Amino acid sequence: MDRVKDKVAIITGAASGVGKADALLLAAEGARVVLTDINEEAGQAVAREIGDAACFVRHDIASPDDWQRVVSTAVEMFGGLDVLVNNAAICPLGSIEDTTLETWRKVMQTNGDGYFLGCKFAVATMKHRPSGGTIINMSSVAALGGLPMMAAYTGSKGAVTALTRSVAAHCKKAGYRIRCNSIHPDGIWTPMTQALVPDLDPAALGIEHNPMARMCDAKDVANLVLFLASDESRFINGAELRIDNAQLISSL
Ligand SMILES: NC(=O)c1ccc[n+]([C@@H]2O[C@H](COP(=O)([O-])OP(=O)(O)OC[C@H]3O[C@@H](n4cnc5c(N)ncnc54)[C@H](O)[C@@H]3O)[C@@H](O)[C@H]2O)c1
Repeated sequence: MDRVKDKVAIITGAASGVGKADALLLAAEGARVVLTDINEEAGQAVAREIGDAACFVRHDIASPDDWQRVVSTAVEMFGGLDVLVNNAAICPLGSIEDTTLETWRKVMQTNGDGYFLGCKFAVATMKHRPSGGTIINMSSVAALGGLPMMAAYTGSKGAVTALTRSVAAHCKKAGYRIRCNSIHPDGIWTPMTQALVPDLDPAALGIEHNPMARMCDAKDVANLVLFLASDESRFINGAELRIDNAQLISSL
């Protein structure tokens, strides 16, 4: 209980899947949370479920103006910013042969520009605070391996991973107390995956039934987000944390 008591967190993509699980868990552990998403209805519903410790802001992560509003809301409503969870993303299917330049640019705009802007606004806000802050970037095993059917997504998550290292190294060199880490899940059973494999039975891939299974639950990822958001992880910085039940190394 209270592992992130009184910390203020922004969570992007909080209307669904992993972002929603992050928001519920961080709030349950004492944080005040600013939930953001382009899906207003679902985002508002999650904020209502949490209550007074939450608010929702409509936010396109590719828009600098939207980021300004989101950060201002965190500061004005809750008094600052301790944690940024850069989580929202899109994942269209397509190999290098099938992916159009238009799709590549759209994915890079959302998953690339969106995370760049998040890190930029978070560092500017956190750097003057004596307590600093922590930035958690949601990447993927795609950035460490290579998913043939997700060329643009894989490229964008590679950019997020390398950006994370640069932000962590910069903040350390500059003497800021800001940590920045990336998380690398394999398949998680969320609306993003459900749209790609609608006929899959997640129970058949659940770790409870089969230790070789690799379908992760959003709560498993939220537990790692909670750890990185808390002071328990204060010496973890610039790390790439796989959460895939050894799937990546098993397929080498
Ligand atoms: N689901 C998986 O198997 C899986 C695996 C590895 C990594 N991830 C990563 O986990 C994160 C969460 O994915 P999820 O599975 O919960 O997906 P999801 O589709 O359930 O949720 C993503 C949310 O992001 C929002 N969003 C999309 N574009 C946005 C934009 N421009 N601005 C603001 N919000 C926007 C959507 O409305 C949605 O609510 C993503 O970064 C994803 O790449 C997912």
